[in-house]
Amino acid sequence: MSTTARINGRYALPRPFLKWVGGKTQLLPELMRRVEQIGGFDRYHEPFVGGGALFFELFRTGRLRKKAWLSDNNPRLIETYQGVRDHVDEVIALLQRHKKRHSEDYFYKIRATVPATLAQRAARIIYLNKTCYNGLYRENSKGQFNSPFGRYKNPQICDEDNLRAVAKALKKARIEHRHFETVVDKAEAGDLVYFDPPYHPVSKTASFTGYDRGAFPEDSQRLLARVYDQLAEKGVYVLLSNSMTPFIEDLYRDFTIDAVSANRAVNSRADRRGKVAEALVRNF
Ligand SMILES: C[S@@+](CC[C@H](N)C(=O)[O-])C[C@H]1O[C@@H](n2cnc3c(N)ncnc32)[C@H](O)[C@@H]1O
Repeated sequence: MSTTARINGRYALPRPFLKWVGGKTQLLPELMRRVEQIGGFDRYHEPFVGGGALFFELFRTGRLRKKAWLSDNNPRLIETYQGVRDHVDEVIALLQRHKKRHSEDYFYKIRATVPATLAQRAARIIYLNKTCYNGLYRENSKGQFNSPFGRYKNPQICDEDNLRAVAKALKKARIEHRHFETVVDKAEAGDLVYFDPPYHPVSKTASFTGYDRGAFPEDSQRLLARVYDQLAEKGVYVLLSNSMTPFIEDLYRDFTIDAVSANRAVNSRADRRGKVAEALVRNF
């Protein structure tokens, strides 16, 4: 499909080009419904960008009028975005080469290298992401990719049309490696900020990630809630997703909290405690 192909007046691409833990594709209709309530916004900020599902959807549906600011504290992820934006032809050529050579041995060989150029590093992450077990990027405590080989019959290693559409969308973005709290200095009244942090665990047993590098402890959740307050105070539109736990409900009690599941909204308070409910917090 070409990057300019339209279906019902909308572009079909771009879509997220990496599968990421906590990817929001499932929740997009709920997120978009809330964004539409605003009518329009100035700049868009996504400080936990991950796979960037909402950013790509906003671009695809023509809702980004001004610059977007995408950031994350994972430097390998940020380099991958920058590599695709700035060197898409080279990334595609490298992915085609990976595709030709793909095998279990080749996967482990590539996993063990850290290439010199931005384009090579971006192609390496995309290749490993498409071919690893579960298709999910995971790192050890040293920040090294450590997912094992995945046994796919025909992994889509090089989706050229989507990568070109992604590169075009990313030309509209500043892409930076930084912590989420820095958004306070960047966002201004009339801008939209979407926060999709690592979720607060729903149970003690679900908190197994608490000790690894991706840890996002309750103190970080509290800091995020303070950042949310400051942005709201400034007149920024702020949307946040998290799990629906008593701790999260308490942190955001001054704002509107909608309970949603991947497929439909659940409005009554009692239903909020359902197993699959996620919280969408908004100040508009
Ligand atoms: C739930 S994921 C975002 C998923 C994304 N919305 C999507 O659709 O794929 C959370 C992201 O937050 C990032 N992260 C964790 N702690 C952070 C911090 N302190 N500052 C900025 N980003 C952080 C992780 O690297 C991860 O990419």
